[in-house]
Amino acid sequence: MKDILTAKFIKEMCDTTANMYRLGWDERNGGNISLLLDEKDVAEYLDLNKVIREIPIGFEAKPLAGKIFLVTGTGKYFKNVAGDPENNLGVVRIKADGETAELLWGYADGGRFTSEFPAHMMSHMARLAVDPNNRVVMHCHPTNLLAMNFVHELDDRAFTRSLWQMCTECIVVFPDGVGVLPWMLCGTNEIGEATAKKMNDYRVVVWGLHGVYGAGKDMDETFGLIETVEKAAEIYMKTAHLPRLNTITDEDLVTIANHFKVNYRKDFID
Ligand code: 13P
Ligand code: ZN
Repeated sequence: MKDILTAKFIKEMCDTTANMYRLGWDERNGGNISLLLDEKDVAEYLDLNKVIREIPIGFEAKPLAGKIFLVTGTGKYFKNVAGDPENNLGVVRIKADGETAELLWGYADGGRFTSEFPAHMMSHMARLAVDPNNRVVMHCHPTNLLAMNFVHELDDRAFTRSLWQMCTECIVVFPDGVGVLPWMLCGTNEIGEATAKKMNDYRVVVWGLHGVYGAGKDMDETFGLIETVEKAAEIYMKTAHLPRLNTITDEDLVTIANHFKVNYRKDFID
């Protein structure tokens, strides 16, 4: 059996959490990531019959039964993941009952998965139903996007339009737009359910006055999605208080979306 610390999925998780920390998106223990793994990939590194311990998940995730995820630990700092993967990460498999996670590796200090496990697993269920290639759910607290939450209306359409107008290629990167939730208590099944409901239509969900969720087929795509949203929010925050002399018009948005052949939300265009 190969050493799991050499696995591509562990390296990717280490690199991504380090990058997110470097960009200031994940202060202290802020942020969490879950990555759906291939069973045969995992079998190269772990004995799939060896369960270290079982962890109740507190909701029902039957559609994910048998699926294996690499998940960041609760209370763990993204800045520390690369230096100590076995304490900061865990590999868990959802048991047939859909209500228990089987720990196959990690959380070595007795820890457990992120407190946002409901939002992650419910979002995986929602995205997999729309796109069977979805593998990643990522949450973080990007500075400019969070700042924008305090000065911009928290509405799907209005928020999406403001972001689309900030960088020419935004509509190409997130043609489906951005879903926005009001402030809600985090770490609960309720915010998980609300996030998953938005994830039926959007790959980006803003948690009002808290942060953002992104979903995608791999780490790069999901990271790039959040990176683009955050870049647009940065331009917004740098210009919102200044007179606007130029703007990307709705006609421009349609032109670029058509050129790149993306299926954008027509009802978000005036
Ligand atoms: P965890 O440390 O439980 O992952 O929580 C961090 C966070 O960002 C909560 O929303
Ligand atoms: Zn958070």
